[in-house]
Amino acid sequence: TNQPLIVSSPDQLSEWDRILPGKPVPEYEIPWQVALLDTTYGGLFCGGTHIGEGWILTAAHCFFDEEKQKLKKSQIVVLSGTTNLIWGGQRSVPVIDPITHEDWNPETKANDIALIRISGEVPLEKASLVDSVLESSLISAGSNLRVSGWGTTTENGDISTKLLKADVPVVPTSSCSQAYGGMVNENQICAGKNGVDSCQGDSGGPLAGLDGVGKSVLVGVVSFGRGCGREGFPGVYTRIFKYRDWIQDKTNI
Ligand code: ARG
Repeated sequence: TNQPLIVSSPDQLSEWDRILPGKPVPEYEIPWQVALLDTTYGGLFCGGTHIGEGWILTAAHCFFDEEKQKLKKSQIVVLSGTTNLIWGGQRSVPVIDPITHEDWNPETKANDIALIRISGEVPLEKASLVDSVLESSLISAGSNLRVSGWGTTTENGDISTKLLKADVPVVPTSSCSQAYGGMVNENQICAGKNGVDSCQGDSGGPLAGLDGVGKSVLVGVVSFGRGCGREGFPGVYTRIFKYRDWIQDKTNI
């Protein structure tokens, strides 16, 4: 959803209530993870990943409200360098309006990818983007990828003030597409299982795998799902590798 979610005592939730089951991210483990905050509400509305030189990769649907009005840079604050939504880190306003994919389709949710840019001066580590060889092994059905975010910890629950992570198994695109009425294709990756999934507010954030030496590589962007953690409805992620040229074209990365 692109509805901003306001922080409200998430610690009242018990451990078993959490969709991203109870795994807080240590401070320096996912340093490229950012939160997108709405300046009008002050609340979290999406996640994102720093991919270098101040470029943040995120989801296109994050920037459109119900009236399909696109958010401007002045309405967005990028929170980086902290796992805590309330304190620490740096807050920056993007230097340009969001760049959303030209073929983003709100009905089919195709091409759910976007970029925003903050000043390259902000000290921030970057995530590397997956290459084709690594990708094919990382997205084989059943292998685990890691998703992270401050999103809601149950379907209609509260967001988390602490960055959480979960390991989600890749689901074959064919069965996933069937579940979603043919909406999913090879430009997307499905991952998750009953009770383990991303959820509202995690959108735009990273889905990552590990390379041969245990270094994290970005594979997907949180896009959508029917509810969260429902049996037979895995989370759907934008497949970064298929947008490699688009990213290169916009950012030179
Ligand atoms: N679209 C939602 C958002 O804007 C997140 C979707 C993820 N849902 C899921 N079940 N994996 O935050």
